Amino acid sequence: MLLTVVCVKLIWGLVGLRESVAQNATGKDEWWRDTFIYQVYPRSFKDSNGDGVGDLNGITSKLEHLVDLGVSTVWLSPIYASPMVDFGYDISNFTAIDPIFGTIDDFKRLTTRAKALKLKVVLDFVPNHSSDKHPWFLKSVQRIKPFDEYYIWKDAKMVNGTRKPPNNWLSEFQGSAWQWNDQRKQYYYHEFTVGQPDLNYRSTALQEEMKNVFRFWLNLGVDGFRVDAINFLVEDSRFLDEPKIPNTGFQDTDPRTLRHIYTSDQNETYDIVASWRKLVDSTNGTRKIILTEAYTTLPYAMKYYQFGSNIPFNFIFLRNITSVSKPVDYKRAIDRYLNSIPAGYVANWVTGNHDNSRVASRFGPHRADQITMIAAILPGVGIIYNGDEIGMIDRPMSWNETIDPAGCNAGPSRYNLTSRDPARTPFQWDSSINAGFSTGKKTWLPVHSNYKTLNLQAEKTTQKSSYAITKRLISLKQNPVVQRGTTQVTAIYDAFLGIARRLPNQSPVVLIVNLYNHSMHYDVATFMNIPKQMTVYVANAAANLSIGAKINTSFLQLPGNASVILL
Ligand code: GLC
Repeated sequence: MLLTVVCVKLIWGLVGLRESVAQNATGKDEWWRDTFIYQVYPRSFKDSNGDGVGDLNGITSKLEHLVDLGVSTVWLSPIYASPMVDFGYDISNFTAIDPIFGTIDDFKRLTTRAKALKLKVVLDFVPNHSSDKHPWFLKSVQRIKPFDEYYIWKDAKMVNGTRKPPNNWLSEFQGSAWQWNDQRKQYYYHEFTVGQPDLNYRSTALQEEMKNVFRFWLNLGVDGFRVDAINFLVEDSRFLDEPKIPNTGFQDTDPRTLRHIYTSDQNETYDIVASWRKLVDSTNGTRKIILTEAYTTLPYAMKYYQFGSNIPFNFIFLRNITSVSKPVDYKRAIDRYLNSIPAGYVANWVTGNHDNSRVASRFGPHRADQITMIAAILPGVGIIYNGDEIGMIDRPMSWNETIDPAGCNAGPSRYNLTSRDPARTPFQWDSSINAGFSTGKKTWLPVHSNYKTLNLQAEKTTQKSSYAITKRLISLKQNPVVQRGTTQVTAIYDAFLGIARRLPNQSPVVLIVNLYNHSMHYDVATFMNIPKQMTVYVANAAANLSIGAKINTSFLQLPGNASVILL
């Protein structure tokens, strides 16, 4: 622990020496503070033309749902021209809409409607790589200047007369990260699929091209960007082998067998983020938000704050906390995260996304709302993934149904450990054909068979549905105690997790979660020093408590899996 603190301090010290980005510590113009941001995965949200794939007009037609939930912002996963090898994260034109999603006019209509509804629009920005069908790459293959340097090219290593990749670097999606190109007679580097060659940020021309991409979308009035896979942006220029981690139990092709000291978290990456901050800040209008995606260590994640990210995604509910975590594990992970945030910056809590099993599948359906409750009561921004607000669960896929490259590349015996298809199935709007997602014969991924009962329309008429609970949780962010109060996280033995938020002279807001699956009772009032009489603000289905019910916290009896927020 001490060592971690020392390391964090050391890194901050170093950060201080480098060019860091001044931030508005008052947070007055940070409209995202104390709100929820909603991720739309466009292929799966709403199909307006019956081709089985979601599109922009579909999203526009459903923006009221987001207003109804009370979120501040819609973040759209990629909508750009793409061969769809990685379902939009392989981009062949950074400033064009893919026809499957619609047209630039459809996009303008979407942003106009969002503005009218007072919703902010955030776009995915994918700077690490392009598609191998991008004209830049095709010219790079032909060594046409300046495109020749837009990607990471290296000569082969000849071993006993045989051509080998330049080093041992592995792709996130399994196997060597190097692909031979017979025309250029060199290998190119790809952190993700073969169809996603990494861009070279040591080319100033490329850096400028990517800045122009920002400018293009800023001119169309977007409110910010979620920057994809940022930690992989720059690679060490010595191209040394990465050290092997002994005894991982993973196959040699698995990236988890290497310590990514040369392909992740490089210093130059942070400087580039800072240059983007400067660029977006030079735009007129409302302050722009930058969210950054990096599955990395806490110190490296925290460092993004000082280099201009407003929301370096906090993935503790996707990585550190699992269905078997005990109250003390929650306490440690939450405290450690909160204590690491540099002064003046905002916390954030990601509950799910398109790359991970759904929250209701990771924690079990009875615990899905519990994680949203934690995200809601803790200070800062919540980030939810479309469908999680109605408690959608993963739809298991057979090998034949699997289309995600992360699953396909792992092969038939291991695909289900890495495939992201199960969490990407169409949104379940109602009980009509294809869950109201599409009128088409076939949808791009199958609709979960539970849609007849698990759908938004049904949940709108059910008390204690995930939808009803999520709505109340989103509005809890407007409570001044939740906005500005102190935070106390308490582990009550092995059973209860308690979170209390407090402001002087105001009654606290308190969350209690029973992490056992059987009934338990404690004198929570004494344990957490909270009032003996409190009122239910919201409770999950397992708690069997009604909103407004009076509770005696000196003998708080909660059924297994119950969670409740008290005022
Ligand atoms: C990010 C995206 C993921 C994608 C990858 C490559 O992690 O969230 O979906 O496959 O980057 O772009």
